[in-house]
Amino acid sequence: MTTLQTKGTILLTGGGGFVGGQILREALESGYSVRITARSAPSAQRTISHFPSYPSVLSSAIVPDIQSVEAYEPAFADGAITHIVHAASPFVLTPEDNVRDLLNPAIKGATVVLEAALRYGNGKVKHVVATSSFASVINISEGMRVGYTYTEKDWNPVTWEQAATADGVTAYCASKKLAERGMWDWMESHRDVGFGLTTICPPWVFGPYAGKLESTKSLSESVQLLNNIIDAENVPPFDFGGYADSREVASAHVRALEVPGAAGRRFIVGRDYRYQIVVDLAHEAVEKGDLPKEFGNRLPVGKKGEWVDSYHIDGSEVTRVLGVQYRELRDTVVDTYKQLIQARELEAKA
Ligand SMILES: NC(=O)c1ccc[n+]([C@@H]2O[C@H](COP(=O)([O-])OP(=O)(O)OC[C@H]3O[C@@H](n4cnc5c(N)ncnc54)[C@H](OP(=O)(O)O)[C@@H]3O)[C@@H](O)[C@H]2O)c1
Repeated sequence: MTTLQTKGTILLTGGGGFVGGQILREALESGYSVRITARSAPSAQRTISHFPSYPSVLSSAIVPDIQSVEAYEPAFADGAITHIVHAASPFVLTPEDNVRDLLNPAIKGATVVLEAALRYGNGKVKHVVATSSFASVINISEGMRVGYTYTEKDWNPVTWEQAATADGVTAYCASKKLAERGMWDWMESHRDVGFGLTTICPPWVFGPYAGKLESTKSLSESVQLLNNIIDAENVPPFDFGGYADSREVASAHVRALEVPGAAGRRFIVGRDYRYQIVVDLAHEAVEKGDLPKEFGNRLPVGKKGEWVDSYHIDGSEVTRVLGVQYRELRDTVVDTYKQLIQARELEAKA
């Protein structure tokens, strides 16, 4: 693998996931070499097969256990790694065991990747970006919190002890908060490591997968939410008030590697939305011919234009500092449903 003509080599964990795949695409298109980590060789190969145009700049390393520093040694062995994006983290909202399935891999995995950068990076790693979440920002116990605006200054107050026995959503949110907090604490106690940290905090991420979506069987939890609306009787009730497009989230990660002012900061990438507006926009797209006519009959109608009041999300810093441009929600809705419709057609033929 050659790194000479690229901007450097990113070690990307979780490149096989929904968000990680878009980060991978964005990084390759932005001129980086990328080494994805995966738990197994077939999984790495599956991801690489989605990006056939980049054979010389896309490689993989098998990291069977993201909670083990030593597992990362082969990924750094050739001294190529200059940047790290840590997107791997369990995204499950119905864990069997909160500690085993969520808290341990998320929290330990987050500091282990920093430890590995320090131990095996040969002083070459310049910057680390981690995929955190709006889950790390929001105080769920405050509910709808009408009139409040969440910014990067807010932290989810949930503790490990609460999370260990909480419901799945609370535990997931805690896994993200405690993982991010752990990374900042690690940076605080390792001030001379030679690399900076930026964290990206999106709410629900919608939008397309970077590679061809061939099945709806193992969608990311967030895409599953829009998939669930197809053939549903009702528009889903409010759960979280914010969304981001997968391509905006990817852009934020890659921009954070490049913009000097990104180091030491967390960025919310996201804006307010409601499921009702998603449904309204999908119907509008059907009327305009941007989604198939028959698809309109498979969507609930709900109460057109209804906007239930809740907190707001301020995702403006990511535009001001990193230059990330937000898309129209309509584009996100159309692109997500086009991909889901195509995947369902492929499933029906199989
Ligand atoms: N989608 C959203 O709405 C959203 C919002 C905010 C933040 N995020 C964050 O974005 C990241 C990716 O989420 P996603 O939506 O892309 O979900 P996803 O499609 O399920 O991807 C999760 C990725 O993490 C990896 N992973 C999960 N548990 C792991 C473990 N124990 N060991 C090693 N790798 C593990 C998965 O690897 P395999 O492919 O091997 O399973 C996969 O690559 C996560 O950090 C998530 O918390 C997502």
